[in-house]
Amino acid sequence: MCFIYSRDDDQLRRDGSCFDLQDNKTAWQKRFPSGIECAGGSSTSAGGLVFVTDSTGRLRAYEAATGKEVWSYAQKGLSLDAPPILYEDGGTEYLAIVGTIEGKAALLGFALGATEPPPLVAPKEGGGAASGENIFATNCGTCHTLAAANSTGTVGPDLDQLKPSESTVEHQVINGGGKMPAFKGQLSPAEIKAVSKFVAESAKTAPTEH
Ligand code: HEC
Repeated sequence: MCFIYSRDDDQLRRDGSCFDLQDNKTAWQKRFPSGIECAGGSSTSAGGLVFVTDSTGRLRAYEAATGKEVWSYAQKGLSLDAPPILYEDGGTEYLAIVGTIEGKAALLGFALGATEPPPLVAPKEGGGAASGENIFATNCGTCHTLAAANSTGTVGPDLDQLKPSESTVEHQVINGGGKMPAFKGQLSPAEIKAVSKFVAESAKTAPTEH
């Protein structure tokens, strides 16, 4: 089965057609409402489902044989413009798809036959696992107080009170100073940037009195 999306701007038509590749005949057709594009692409699972994304960010599954819509997934702020990727491991089929949530890159994975996943949350500023907050908690929190990271270290200055600029933090983290170790080589330049930005922005808005 092969799903082909076409648009005809003159007639304001947007059609998705499913072709049976055995005999090249159209098996079924979907007409999408005006304004909805399905240019992200589609994939067909071994279990006979055609997965299609549309420009509203909705991911749909149709029965390949009949075109009946059997499942769909959408979330506020989620945009999906890439083709769904299907793969099998240990007898279970999985679907992975790249998108964005509130402008941040997101990779979604579904196991076919699994229950609905919890809502996707956009990563905090700085991005994903290596967010400034995580880097701070792991590397800095034992010595510094910063309310935004729930840290109460007292070896170094209280950063909520100090309110250092981003460049001050960056300089200090790279080079160290006094009893503070240098993090150059420990943290990547991107991590140093992320943690510096996090500290400067969090401290700026933190109340000065604890
Ligand atoms: C082992 C304890 C320790 C760790 C870990 C540590 N610091 Fe420090 N930090 C200090 C001390 C002590 C000072 C005061 C340095 C001095 O004497 O000039 C300091 C100073 C600073 C300053 C002030 C610089 C200035 O110019 O006033 C900033 C900003 C800072 N640290 C950020 C961080 C960040 C971000 C991390 C994690 C990447 C970190 N620190 C990890 C102990 C630490």
